[in-house]
Amino acid sequence: MLQSTSLHVAIIMDGNGRWAARRSLPRAAGHRAGADAVRRVVEAAPDAGVAALTLFAFSSDNWKRPPGEVAALMRLFARYLRSETPRLLQNRVRLDVIGRRDRLPAPLVTAIRAAELATGAGTALRLRLAVDYSARAAIAAGETLPDVDLLIRTGGEQRLSDFLLWECAYAELYFTETMWPDFSAADLTDALRAFHSRQRRFGGLPEAAAG
Ligand code: FPP
Repeated sequence: MLQSTSLHVAIIMDGNGRWAARRSLPRAAGHRAGADAVRRVVEAAPDAGVAALTLFAFSSDNWKRPPGEVAALMRLFARYLRSETPRLLQNRVRLDVIGRRDRLPAPLVTAIRAAELATGAGTALRLRLAVDYSARAAIAAGETLPDVDLLIRTGGEQRLSDFLLWECAYAELYFTETMWPDFSAADLTDALRAFHSRQRRFGGLPEAAAG
């Protein structure tokens, strides 16, 4: 255990497409490898002191992608939810999906409901998957989450892309060049080590100067 804390960590999982392109693989292969990284990080999170993990799986702006890629992602999410539920239960993970559901394919909505129902009693980790999620829409609807402590973005870009804008008001930001499919438990530990080395002030003064 890195530190006995109960942190809310949020991750923008970027770089699946570039990971695949570098291997001359289709983008869908990058997303599948991304699902393996999700499993690794979910399983490493509780021992790393993470109590809540929110993952950006599909932004409301991602509908602009080619229909074939969108459909493959939707199938991947449904398959992940169905196949992972036993492991989530075993690891006492409570899963919720945030975002709009009215535009999602019916089999995915069914898989979401089943996974949420099955894992509702989990206490080791609160896992939220953001699917068809827009922070601006969530804020306008009054649907906010607890504050984020640490926001990680993989894949080298340094922006928030309409993810948890309200909740990240005082989040520490951590950007890494690592492509999401390569992100490991050790990378999570590195990000948390960086987080713990920072001094959070929430607008106040450093402890030494506060008297
Ligand atoms: C960003 O990479 C990733 C996405 C838009 C999809 C996120 C999906 C996963 C991590 C797959 C598995 C998730 C679950 C919950 C099973 P990109 O495609 O934008 O990559 P690029 O910037 O390199 O093109």
